[in-house]
Amino acid sequence: MANHDTIQLETFELTLQDIADVDIEKLHALSIGVGWPHRPKDWQMLLENGKGVVAVDAIGRLAGSAMWFDFGAAFSTIGMVIIPPRLQARGAGSWMMLHVMQQAGKRRFGLNATRAAKRLYQSMGFTIEKTVFQCQGEATPITAPAVSGGAELRALTPGDIGAILALDEKAFGANRATLFDALLPVSQGLVLVRGQRIEAFSLCRRFGRGALIGPVVALNEEDAIAVTHPHVVEHAGKFLRLDTREESGAFAHYLAQSGLAVFDTVTTMSLGGRWMPSQDEEQALRPKTWALASQAFG
Ligand SMILES: CC(C)(COP(=O)(O)OP(=O)(O)OC[C@H]1O[C@@H](n2cnc3c(N)ncnc32)[C@H](O)[C@@H]1OP(=O)(O)O)[C@@H](O)C(=O)NCCC(=O)NCCS
Repeated sequence: MANHDTIQLETFELTLQDIADVDIEKLHALSIGVGWPHRPKDWQMLLENGKGVVAVDAIGRLAGSAMWFDFGAAFSTIGMVIIPPRLQARGAGSWMMLHVMQQAGKRRFGLNATRAAKRLYQSMGFTIEKTVFQCQGEATPITAPAVSGGAELRALTPGDIGAILALDEKAFGANRATLFDALLPVSQGLVLVRGQRIEAFSLCRRFGRGALIGPVVALNEEDAIAVTHPHVVEHAGKFLRLDTREESGAFAHYLAQSGLAVFDTVTTMSLGGRWMPSQDEEQALRPKTWALASQAFG
């Protein structure tokens, strides 16, 4: 690495290291220190699907992390940007951000910023696009919503993977085949089939304090609810989370009625070009992401 790999923060000198060489327990302690719910296994999945750096102090203590997740050569998300509270507001966060962006090279970037990070990213040139609503709570299923047009809902099978990847790529704006290789073995998947065509899908896996539904991709709100509902039923009485960009409307209403209240919000931001579809694109009949895979993966 180049010579800007150390930074002096008052009395601390921090050095950058590859995140792949760090003990997961140390990363876990770092995220717990800022109140995040990730389990060691969640870190494991992040490390298997991304690259990044950590900062360490002179006696080897972890003093920060930042990661980026490649979705093709032209677009990456950035996430897991953490500076321990005792070292915040001294420039380490922006130093680590600049480093991961330099490592990733010229491309578009997207991220979901916490309140603490939003101004920092704005000062680095990131533009605000949308709000993400982190909905969670004890699942309390309502009566099954009706699905129109003779649609069939069934478990995802290996033969469906090509179709769900194509739907996800249209909705997300980049190919996430590698991420799905990691998500599918640990997720319960559902597809909605209409006239032999897969028109919606959902995944649900263990994450943080319980289970997380995402991604959910569908052409319309009714189908998005239809593929989400069985996971809510499956987790009745248990902790369930879903991150969505829907503020109002039937999907948001369905979540609120099912015990998944808005717990927090983060802000989707981008650098180097828009990430989220425009209003015109949203109005065209194209698949849309109703639930995120996670805040880091988008
Ligand atoms: C968000 C986070 C990563 C920022 O890290 P940080 O090291 O505090 O970031 P910086 O010091 O580079 O910048 C933070 C602020 O301090 C200011 N600052 C930077 N250097 C400074 C210095 N030497 N003295 C005083 N202020 C300074 C920055 O201008 C910035 O101001 P802003 O609030 O107007 O944006 C950190 O607060 C954190 O880990 N929070 C909890 C986890 C989290 O929310 N992560 C973000 C995920 S998207």
